Amino acid sequence: MFRSLISAKDLTQEDVEKAIEIALKMEELLKDNAEIDLLSDKILATLFFEPSTRTRLSFEAAMHRLGGKVISVSDKGSTSSTKGETIYDSIRVVQNYADIIAMRHSDPEAPYAADSATMKPIINAGNGHDEHPSQALTDIFTMLKEKGRTDNLHVALVGDLKYGRTVHSLAYILSLFPKNHITFISPKALEMPKEYLEDLDKRSASYSATEDWDSALPHADVIYMTRVQQERFESKKEYEKYKDHYILSKEIIAEKCQNDVTIMHPLPRVNEIQTDIDDMPNAAYFRQTENSIPMRMAILALLLDKTAHL
Ligand code: NCD
Repeated sequence: MFRSLISAKDLTQEDVEKAIEIALKMEELLKDNAEIDLLSDKILATLFFEPSTRTRLSFEAAMHRLGGKVISVSDKGSTSSTKGETIYDSIRVVQNYADIIAMRHSDPEAPYAADSATMKPIINAGNGHDEHPSQALTDIFTMLKEKGRTDNLHVALVGDLKYGRTVHSLAYILSLFPKNHITFISPKALEMPKEYLEDLDKRSASYSATEDWDSALPHADVIYMTRVQQERFESKKEYEKYKDHYILSKEIIAEKCQNDVTIMHPLPRVNEIQTDIDDMPNAAYFRQTENSIPMRMAILALLLDKTAHL
């Protein structure tokens, strides 16, 4: 099992299956309203140097559900990083206060620097445009729950595939399971970066890429929409060129998609999924946020090596 969760690239199929197995157990415990004290002697530090709602709160909720304690930085401006402290130094310090650290930072190198500063587990909760592996584990768990399988799936990843970190991690995880096919749907300027495609090639992953979603949507079992990542663009004008490129509507679903297509989104949504879709049975994005609790409980328990007696 992994020591830290930095990149989904490091995960094996067995790792992902184990995380899903533990998440399913966590879900049962939560349903029974059982008092869980698995991590009652542990402290999680959440260090968020970039904005977050879901990820930080769900890691903290997951830790509380496991009986653990949480210390937190949710505002970059309140940390010594504003005084010029490096990530390495910050983590050398925080490791003395906590048993496990979940961290979000705009610098893709940050979680690697953090991991080199401590033997305690680091969870990469988003490193700039690069990766977001705990979201991708939540996503594959959601696919299992919605579709009954994690293999033999045709998944369309739509939108900002250049800067959207969740899709980078999710592509790695999808490529672990047999017969999955990914269709990357994006404007040319926001296509899946070469470095990830090269990794997928090394794994002989099955994928295709197009700008035209009309031709791709009918094949999809799962449509995974993403937000155009405004904060990564050089200018507002540049962002505005792409922000309305793909907007999923009820009409498009009725005309183009399979009846039982599953619609996912890591959230936050801006305008890429029209809100009247929310009540359709196909809309899985709010269930996806619910699934993040048992999955993040599983990640915490696995990294702290506390799953033996579950
Ligand atoms: C995503 C992120 O932060 O990368 N949000 C999340 O954690 N669920 C997606 C996004 O911000 O678009």
